[in-house]
Amino acid sequence: MSSAQSAPKAEANVADTAAHADAEEAIRVIDLHKSFGNLKVLKGVSLTAARGDVVAIIGGSGSGKSTMLRCINFLETPTSGRIIVGGEEVAMKPDGSPAKPRQIERIRTRLAMVFQSFNLWTHRTLLENVIEVPIHVLKIPKREATARAMELLERVGLAEKHASYPAFLSGGQQQRAAIARALAVDPSVMLFDEPTSALDPELVGEVLTVIRDLAAEGRTMILVTHEMKFAREVASHVIYLSEGRIEEEGPPEEVFGNPKSERLQQFLRTVA
Ligand SMILES: Nc1ncnc2c1ncn2[C@@H]1O[C@H](COP(=O)(O)OP(=O)(O)OP(=O)(O)O)[C@@H](O)[C@H]1O
Ligand SMILES: [Mg+2]
Repeated sequence: MSSAQSAPKAEANVADTAAHADAEEAIRVIDLHKSFGNLKVLKGVSLTAARGDVVAIIGGSGSGKSTMLRCINFLETPTSGRIIVGGEEVAMKPDGSPAKPRQIERIRTRLAMVFQSFNLWTHRTLLENVIEVPIHVLKIPKREATARAMELLERVGLAEKHASYPAFLSGGQQQRAAIARALAVDPSVMLFDEPTSALDPELVGEVLTVIRDLAAEGRTMILVTHEMKFAREVASHVIYLSEGRIEEEGPPEEVFGNPKSERLQQFLRTVA
């Protein structure tokens, strides 16, 4: 009999118990619920991303896309559900709050989030923005963190702007700097929340190019986007959220090319 280790990857364990999570699994979310007071925003959402997967989340305004990302990153406290990062289940109290705050701190460094509104620290230069977490949270020596940050800024085309403050940059440049900052922790999963929706149309392309390159090099990503063409091109899996539930999901060719649910068909018509 072959052991689990020698089994081909495609046939690796798919049991949904965290204890036996596939080594290739980057993140798994099981039956996530989130309410704000009486408002039920997420009504049982599950997703799994293997390493290198790009999961695109699409859906109308208010469907719960940002809330989902924010729960995954513990910027919001889930009402219930399970979150497993790299095989490690986040310990939650019955009310969904973290049972082990230190575990959350540690897991957060493996999940980097890029926001619609960039969220750079305005009183720090780009370089200072990128080295902050590596130095103060990951305790990487300043010289090493700086060298790596310069490489990342170079990568997103901003090396010559490293001493500039965010206010002196275009939105596209700020978002590329935010991506460099996210990469600086070498995250196992990157979470993007509509990274181009605050940009002028002529600046969208440069940010999508950076994200496309990250996808091509096998970065695991969960990407909330309203750029349907882009989602179709880079995603390995697409989830359509509607009113806090997954209405339809599947490979991009299916979800975009052959949508089954009436709501998804309607949604795709409105964003076309
Ligand atoms: N902190 C909060 N307190 C109360 N209600 C909230 C909070 N955050 C989000 N909501 C509500 O939850 C619902 C889902 O919001 P969410 O931001 O997740 O939607 P979204 O799908 O990201 O929409 P958009 O496409 O407009 O960004 C909305 O009705 C919103 O008003
Ligand atoms: Mg949102």
